Amino acid sequence: MAHSHKTVVLITGATGVIGNAIARALAATPDYALVLLARDEGRATKAVDAIRRDTGNGDVSFVIADVSRRHSIQALADSWQGPLHVLVNDAGIAPQGRETTAEGIELTFATNVLAYLWMAQAFAPHLEGSAPARIVNVASYWAGDLDMHDLEFRRRRFDNHTAYRQSKQANRMLTVALAEVMAKRGISINACHPGDPSSVLSRNLGFGGSQSPEDAASTPVMLARGELGAEGTGCYFEHGRETTCRFARDKDAIAQLYDICLGYG
Ligand SMILES: NC(=O)c1ccc[n+]([C@@H]2O[C@H](COP(=O)([O-])OP(=O)(O)OC[C@H]3O[C@@H](n4cnc5c(N)ncnc54)[C@H](OP(=O)(O)O)[C@@H]3O)[C@@H](O)[C@H]2O)c1
Repeated sequence: MAHSHKTVVLITGATGVIGNAIARALAATPDYALVLLARDEGRATKAVDAIRRDTGNGDVSFVIADVSRRHSIQALADSWQGPLHVLVNDAGIAPQGRETTAEGIELTFATNVLAYLWMAQAFAPHLEGSAPARIVNVASYWAGDLDMHDLEFRRRRFDNHTAYRQSKQANRMLTVALAEVMAKRGISINACHPGDPSSVLSRNLGFGGSQSPEDAASTPVMLARGELGAEGTGCYFEHGRETTCRFARDKDAIAQLYDICLGYG
């Protein structure tokens, strides 16, 4: 259990390359307590042990959930004890074929898009209790091709680049949609492009990766620490700087996407 004077960060995807580097960078400062949300206990234990050993920070722990399933996220939020100051949504996938969750939702959409929203909604009461609080959405510059009428590839032929790019566009649009709602609760929410390291996800997309995990984590780490993004909310960052998001302009499309996603329960 984290010490109450610490800044408590819940991070998804920390058994992966970028999430792990974000968690390590934050844990390296002793006033942060890290909770890694993972779906596999073995991988979670390994990640926690390595971060504790390498940083000397004993306040690193894990919780288990499958972010592609809303009930799993909600069960975790319902059992959450203690404060929560920062949520980092980082878990993502780019499977090469169309798969579905047990609920029948296309898996890339459920994991990369709905999970970010469900995590924000489910943990908002805890974040609000620690306000001012922050949500950091790890998105990407590799984004576009969102089809509002076929978010789950029921009509279009499944292609993992299109599914992934659509999901990262949606992350950026939903960050804008949630900013107003969250501001009323004392929670800021910003999105960013991290960097491009080699990972399961990037290799599934055919990208070799050109950056170290540490470099790739630096923008999300600055957002999580509040060194970036402290002045605003609903913004988008690349390379350690706020930048104009081309998906933030169309307010009608943002509202429409938000409504559709809320319709998933
Ligand atoms: N790599 C890049 O070049 C790049 C560039 C731009 C943006 N990004 C973004 O950065 C983020 C992290 O990517 P990465 O490259 O670090 O990927 P990665 O190494 O493949 O890691 C993905 C992480 O997501 C977790 N995850 C997947 N499905 C999950 C589920 N249903 N429930 C819980 N956890 C789940 C994985 O857990 P397991 O360990 O259990 O599989 C793993 O921890 C993604 O949002 C991605 O879009 C990456």
